[in-house]
Amino acid sequence: MLLDLAARRRVLFLGGKGGVGKTSIASATALAQARAGRRVLVVSTDPAHNLGHLWQRTVGDDVVRLAGPFGTGVLDGVEIDPGRTTDAHLAAVRRTLHRLVPPHLSREVDRHLDLARDAPGTHEAAVLERVATAVEAGLRDHDLVVFDTAPSGHTARLLTLPETMGAWTDGLLRRRERSERLGAAARMLGGQGETEARRDSEIRHVLTERRTRFARLRDVLTDPTITAFVVVLAAERLPVLETIELCAQLDGLGVPVGGLVVNKRSPADAGGLLAARHTQEAAHLRTLTDTLGHLPRDEVPLLGDDLVGEDALQHLVRYL
Ligand SMILES: Nc1ncnc2c1ncn2[C@@H]1O[C@H](COP(=O)(O)OP(=O)(O)OP(=O)(O)O)[C@@H](O)[C@H]1O
Ligand SMILES: [Mg+2]
Repeated sequence: MLLDLAARRRVLFLGGKGGVGKTSIASATALAQARAGRRVLVVSTDPAHNLGHLWQRTVGDDVVRLAGPFGTGVLDGVEIDPGRTTDAHLAAVRRTLHRLVPPHLSREVDRHLDLARDAPGTHEAAVLERVATAVEAGLRDHDLVVFDTAPSGHTARLLTLPETMGAWTDGLLRRRERSERLGAAARMLGGQGETEARRDSEIRHVLTERRTRFARLRDVLTDPTITAFVVVLAAERLPVLETIELCAQLDGLGVPVGGLVVNKRSPADAGGLLAARHTQEAAHLRTLTDTLGHLPRDEVPLLGDDLVGEDALQHLVRYL
C-alpha cells in the first residue's frame, strides 16, 4: 500500500507514537521511490533525530545525499533542528523589527525577543516556518518529500498552526490597516512623515508574506492529490486507541489520512510466546478495523536484524 500511495503523491507525512518505526518506514519508502527514479527528500522534524544514525552519516540542517543516484532517482535528507531553527527565526524577526521600529524602542525589542525565545509557541512557530520552507523547496527541487515527524500529539498540533498563525496574522494586518488609514489622515493634516508610512508598508509586506506562506502550506497539506498522512503503529492497545484519535484529529484538520502501517507484528510461527502475542495483536487490530477499516493498511513483521543502512531498509521495502 505505502509504496503505491507514495508513487501517487508529492508529500508524505509519517506520524505515530515514539519508537514505532516512523524513521525506518519513512526511509524505506523514500529509498524505494528513489530507486524507482524519483528525486526524493526525507525531512526529519523530530527533535530526537535518528535519520543520521539510520543512514550512518551526519545529517543536519543542509540537504545531504543519503543514497543514489539510481538513474534519475536520488535520495536526499535533512534534519530540522528546532533549537537552531528558533534562533534563526528570532534573528530574522529581530533584524526586521530593528529596521521597522523607531530607534528609541530598539532596546524594548531586544528585551521582548530575549523573552520570546522560551515562550510557548515560539518554538513551534519557528518549526512550522521551517516545514513550510522545506515543503516549498522540496516541491521545487524534488518529486517527493517524505516527512519523518515527531511523536503524534506534537505533529497534529503543528498541523493546526497554519490556521492559527493565519488568523493571528490576519488580525495584525487588520490592525495595521486601521493604523495606516489613521496615518494617512494624519499625513494629510501634516502630522506624519514619510518614514512612518514606509515603515507601515514594510510591516504589512512582512506580515502578508508570512500569511501567504502559511496559506500555501495549508493548501498543500489539505490537498489529497498532493499530500497523504500515514500513521505508523504497533498492534497494541494504547497505540491503536491513539491512532484512532490521531486520525480523527487529522480528519478534523482536513489533512487526508492515506493509510496505516502496523509495524513489528509478532510472527505466529516462532514459538509459544510470540504466537500468544500474535493472537493478542489480532484482537487489537480488530478494534482498529472497526473504526478505521476503510483505510488501506500494511503489516510489517518484527524483523530479527537491526535496521541500519541501505540493505536493511531494502529488506523492509518488500512489506510496503
Ligand atoms: N519491523 C521492525 N522489526 C524490528 N525492528 C524494527 C522494526 N521497525 C523498526 N525497528 C527498530 O525499532 C527502533 C525504532 O524504530 P524507528 O527509529 O524507525 O522508530 P521511530 O518511530 O522513528 O522512533 P522515534 O519516535 O524515537 O523517532 C529502531 O531500533 C528500529 O531499528
Ligand atoms: Mg524517528
